[in-house]
Amino acid sequence: MAKASTQYVCEGCGAASPRWLGRCPSCGGWNTLVEEVVKKGPRGAARASLFSEPGRGRPVPIESIAEDAAARMPTGIEELDRVLGGGVVLGSVALVGGDPGVGKSTLLLQALAGMARRGPTALYASGEESIAQVALRARRLGLAFGELPLGDRLQLVGVSDVAEVEQAAQLTKPTAIVVDSVQVIRSSDLESAPGSVSQLREVTARLVDLAKQSHAAVFLVGHVTKEGAIAGPKVLEHLVDVVLSFEGERGHAFRALRASKNRFGSATEVGVFEMSPAGLREVPNPSELFLAERPVHAAGSVIASVTPQTGGARAVLVEVQALVGVSGGAGRRTAQGVDGARLAMLLAVLERKAGLQLLGADVFANVAGGLAIDEPAVDLPLAIAIASAARNRPCARDLVAFGEVGLAGEVRGVPRGATRLAEAASMGFGRALVPASTAERLSATDRAGVEIVPVRDVEEAIAAAIG
Ligand code: TYD
Ligand code: MG
Repeated sequence: MAKASTQYVCEGCGAASPRWLGRCPSCGGWNTLVEEVVKKGPRGAARASLFSEPGRGRPVPIESIAEDAAARMPTGIEELDRVLGGGVVLGSVALVGGDPGVGKSTLLLQALAGMARRGPTALYASGEESIAQVALRARRLGLAFGELPLGDRLQLVGVSDVAEVEQAAQLTKPTAIVVDSVQVIRSSDLESAPGSVSQLREVTARLVDLAKQSHAAVFLVGHVTKEGAIAGPKVLEHLVDVVLSFEGERGHAFRALRASKNRFGSATEVGVFEMSPAGLREVPNPSELFLAERPVHAAGSVIASVTPQTGGARAVLVEVQALVGVSGGAGRRTAQGVDGARLAMLLAVLERKAGLQLLGADVFANVAGGLAIDEPAVDLPLAIAIASAARNRPCARDLVAFGEVGLAGEVRGVPRGATRLAEAASMGFGRALVPASTAERLSATDRAGVEIVPVRDVEEAIAAAIG
């Protein structure tokens, strides 16, 4: 097959050059040139054929479009389906990112087997592991070779070129496809190495075309790089319909699946799993998991009701821990699961507004269980945990807290108060420290039988929590 011709395009100004150059001759940017296929021929023809579809190039009235235009299929994994917005949308592409070893391959193999078990054909295209390894895992997890035969509905193929994925899809006509991983698949149209920006873009664009044309749901595995962005630069995120990230701390069994982009649902759901010897298990009640090992009556431990990261529709109770030690030196500050800059800000506020002596002290903050919280509602429980640790006075055991803390020490309102209280009530907590402005807006039902302690500033909150 003849190679498609390629050119190098500046990501800054769009200028094209036939060769790679270190510096863009047009805008002067360094290292901005990226290889691209010069698009003509088949891809152009494919585009033209799309124009014969209704609604392509010819407007149709909005109310003429049926609701099921985006058909969904459940994967059989409820936590995944919920994060996707109620199952996977056929013809869409979802990118699943995460650190190596977090469990992306396991999750998607379980999802594919779940779909194949219900009838549709599924294709697992593996570029990283051999198909023997994938089959062995499926056998060990009881996803295949069990009592209920899958027949030929779950197909495996080893691939290194995107053309092989396309070919396998032509042969098997799958309803769902996993490509593991997008970083090791290349397009032979480009000279660049697999995993380079040009390759990632071209391979992903071809797989998006494949999804649209075959109406299969495509899942792409993408490893997160040191910088934390999926597939190195975030170049892929705008090409796909859904971006999921699979997260978990090393040494913890718990895993969180979040959507950071979802064209077919809210990007606010969080799915929780536990990695077990039998694969990933869904955790329908994460609060229970996070509170299981809570110490009895220890200073520096406060329960927070949070809606993790993007603010899921469901709240989770987590234990926020702090340890304050005298160092004599400059004072070390360590934050696990909370933002380091936020911790530094809270320490300054506690010094100035609540009279705590923290200058030069070592302060360690941690969210037990390994969940990363990046919403401001964790400020108040963290501030109380630090005060509790510094004064060596435990916080009341039946108390939860949530609220943002401002620079003046004021406790500011946060959204989803009722959701947070419902979770606290279901876990048996009787009292909640709530920002006064949030408390004002709560109806009797919103309070869910939890006694509300409205607080205006950190000093008041600390007094209410640790006396
Ligand atoms: P994997 O799905 O291969 O991760 P990724 O594709 O994100 O790189 O999972 C790898 C880890 O998960 C591996 O270190 C072992 C662990 N694991 C279990 O604990 N139990 C299991 O049943 C499986 C399949 C994996
Ligand atoms: Mg893998």
